[in-house]
Amino acid sequence: MHVLIPEAAPFEPAQRAWLNGFLAGLLGMEQALAKAPAVAPTPIPQAADASAHPAEFPWHDPTLSLEERLKLADSRPLPHRIMAALGQLDCGQCGYLCASYAEAIASGADPDLNKCVPGGRATAKTIKVLLAKGKSAAAERSAPALSAAASAPAKPQHAAGERGYHRELPVPATLVESRRLNEPGSEKATQHVALKFIEPLDYAPGDSLGIWPMNNPEEVELIIAILKGRGSETVQLAGGEPISVREALLWRRDLRVPTEDLFRVLSEHAKDYADRTLLAKLADDDSRAPDYGVHDVLDCLMEFRSARPPLRDFVRALGSLQPRLYSIASSAKAHPGEAHLTVGLLEYEFIEHTYRGVGSCYLGEQLQIARRAQVFVQKSHGFALPADPEASIIMIGPGTGIAPFRAFLQERALTNAKGKNWLFFGNQRFSEDFFYREELEGLVQARALTRLSTAFSRDQADKIYVQHRMLEEGAELWRWLRSGAHVYVCGDAKRMASDVDLALQQIAQQEGGFSVEQARGFLAELSKAGRYQRDVY
Ligand SMILES: Cc1cc2nc3c(=O)[nH]c(=O)nc-3n(C[C@H](O)[C@H](O)[C@H](O)COP(=O)(O)OP(=O)(O)OC[C@H]3O[C@@H](n4cnc5c(N)ncnc54)[C@H](O)[C@@H]3O)c2cc1C
Ligand SMILES: NC(=O)c1ccc[n+]([C@@H]2O[C@H](COP(=O)([O-])OP(=O)(O)OC[C@H]3O[C@@H](n4cnc5c(N)ncnc54)[C@H](OP(=O)(O)O)[C@@H]3O)[C@@H](O)[C@H]2O)c1
Repeated sequence: MHVLIPEAAPFEPAQRAWLNGFLAGLLGMEQALAKAPAVAPTPIPQAADASAHPAEFPWHDPTLSLEERLKLADSRPLPHRIMAALGQLDCGQCGYLCASYAEAIASGADPDLNKCVPGGRATAKTIKVLLAKGKSAAAERSAPALSAAASAPAKPQHAAGERGYHRELPVPATLVESRRLNEPGSEKATQHVALKFIEPLDYAPGDSLGIWPMNNPEEVELIIAILKGRGSETVQLAGGEPISVREALLWRRDLRVPTEDLFRVLSEHAKDYADRTLLAKLADDDSRAPDYGVHDVLDCLMEFRSARPPLRDFVRALGSLQPRLYSIASSAKAHPGEAHLTVGLLEYEFIEHTYRGVGSCYLGEQLQIARRAQVFVQKSHGFALPADPEASIIMIGPGTGIAPFRAFLQERALTNAKGKNWLFFGNQRFSEDFFYREELEGLVQARALTRLSTAFSRDQADKIYVQHRMLEEGAELWRWLRSGAHVYVCGDAKRMASDVDLALQQIAQQEGGFSVEQARGFLAELSKAGRYQRDVY
């Protein structure tokens, strides 16, 4: 018997034997034997995808909340706690992986605390608090290097000269198509966007495209007008050439999250005593900003009308704009020189105002056909088609989560991959929100998509989600898993990904006869074998 499942793993002998055979068959016996430890020392991690990340970083799971992650890292050294505050996606958007960005911040090598876009403002603020506490504890400075332990590069993932493959080296791409994927009447706005590369860029199914967005020009002009500027005044931002304040506000500065520096500058120039006092308080602790009607930068000017600093000081006090990532929804083989994206236009209500996503609305609305955007390919970290074209795949991608699976299906059809393909797609309503319906039905007819299971949540009184369809088809799904299928999940990290994980656990219990513990162990092993991959955000 070839031992792939550790003795310590919570399985019955018969289940262990079956799993050993199952995993060995899947990995290819030679590869499996090479990987199998002589003695089986590895404890089975409890987090469902911990095998993709070292078990010693239990917070490295994007489905956990910030509070849960911080709690798990509570007694750890500063770099670990900083890592726990990050988004845990290893998406590369910041130019690092989570472990190496945490290390760069802790060591002072990277002073920019705002680079974790998935973590948003809560992450940036938490890191600041952690750093302030860490500075007072000298022991923290002697903490072991995190990236070495995490096998992640300590430096940004940047190979000099690799134009188009790093956030700091973007290349232009032209918008050639932009069409709404929702039908009229839908509660959502999702755009299919096609960009044509000006110079050759290579990508694989599972990779993302990074976009440097532009802020809303109307918002920028309003800010310039309120501060009585012309927009043509020049300003020098850290490490850069002088540029006009208009250009800085459009392309370089973050207009969503007001920084402490901004509150400070506004406070220093506020004529009204009450404004001055309140802004000074917000500069120290902005957690109560929403109580005063402040969510974004423009709100600061609207709510504190006596605070009118010089335009240049205002611009310098803003945070830096970050790129956004979008899963590539096309195969480079099917669409040479192009990348397609499925972009959900973000719009939300907060403190009685409507706010719109910067990156999604730039791509889906502001950018006009034939105009260029600055883009780069962000290679995925372990979200890719199986190397074996005969392996079957199960794809779970509700909403915009369908994007990488359109790329997977195009690639598998074009390369004539023999493995079976099963897609679970979910959205609000069949008639308004069935993205790429004709394409998908065409693939079913052409037998390039073996099974298509859909869940439309708002077509009936009770919600039906993708995980309900998975449970309905549990026996068949288990048969696919037993014959080596790979499982992929893409889309919402906070609710969907953990519910789908639970559904897979339930299927392993019902169909495989596993206990809860064993089902978790089974998924952890599946993940370790690269057969359970998630790209959630
Ligand atoms: C690897 C990866 C792949 C991705 N793929 C896709 C994809 O294929 N398609 C896609 O559409 N997106 C995808 N995303 C998400 C995408 O990168 C952006 O995060 C998304 O478009 C929102 O960015 P934005 O600039 O439009 O919004 P922003 O302007 O950045 O606004 C988002 C911020 O608004 C705030 N916010 C949002 N809702 C609320 C609310 N209700 N109340 C208060 N504040 C709120 C939060 O602070 C949030 O961080 C992906 C992300 C990653 C990391
Ligand atoms: N990080 C960011 O800034 C950012 C930006 C954009 C999107 N996202 C995330 O990406 C997700 C994708 O957005 P989207 O608009 O394309 O689709 P979505 O909001 O995920 O909705 C797609 C479908 O999933 C359903 N759903 C809701 N909760 C679910 C659950 N727990 N399990 C399974 N399905 C569930 C929805 O149903 P109902 O709506 O009827 O409940 C809908 O039918 C968003 O939810 C959001 O969290 C993040």
